[in-house]
Amino acid sequence: MEKKARTNYPINDLIVRRWSPRAFSPKVPGKEIVLSLFEAARWAPSCFNEQPWSFIFACREDPEEFQAMLDCLVPGNARWAVNAPILIVAVAAEKFASGRNNRWAWHDVGMAVENLLLEATSKGLFAHPMAGFDQEKVRATYGIPEDHSPVLAIALGYPGEVSDLPEELQDAESAQRDRKPIYEFTFRRTWGDNRGV
Ligand SMILES: Cc1cc2nc3c(=O)[nH]c(=O)nc-3n(C[C@H](O)[C@H](O)[C@H](O)COP(=O)(O)O)c2cc1C
Repeated sequence: MEKKARTNYPINDLIVRRWSPRAFSPKVPGKEIVLSLFEAARWAPSCFNEQPWSFIFACREDPEEFQAMLDCLVPGNARWAVNAPILIVAVAAEKFASGRNNRWAWHDVGMAVENLLLEATSKGLFAHPMAGFDQEKVRATYGIPEDHSPVLAIALGYPGEVSDLPEELQDAESAQRDRKPIYEFTFRRTWGDNRGV
């Protein structure tokens, strides 16, 4: 299913087409494709080129591995993410190599994730980011070091049929995507001054 952004100004088609579906086809993307998504993430910019991102991924072809990651999601996400062929957790290294705190680590992980999402869109895949997961469970399951933090879980796969979702999720899947207007977040001269935007 397509759910294109309704834009007021022309933008790149990948941004228009990316969205966060809950209905996934069970078709598993090939390993080359999955690795190309991490390649896209790899080329994100980052503060001092520290590249503070790591990704852990699980494929439904390995049911034990898949179940372990699925079990880290909150039930509200697990109920639909169970159908995605790939689950991913993005992790931030919160210190620079120098040992100082990296205040931009989560920002840079976000940049890498958006690269991944757009690359996925370009290959006919869709990815749904999720904050709804148990951080401590992820930390324990994967032995994530103290100075790293799980930031985001992602469900990834090819689009599925809305009718395969639990009934109470079907309306949201088809609902229009919405955004604030540009003038609400774009200012000149002083905070909140959107005259001339
Ligand atoms: C950091 C972050 C956390 C999110 N957490 C969840 C989540 O736990 N469950 C969920 O269903 N969607 C989650 N989403 C998806 C958002 O709800 C979605 O991106 C937003 O509604 C805009 O829709 P779109 O991505 O289709 O444009 C999350 C997105 C982001 C970026």
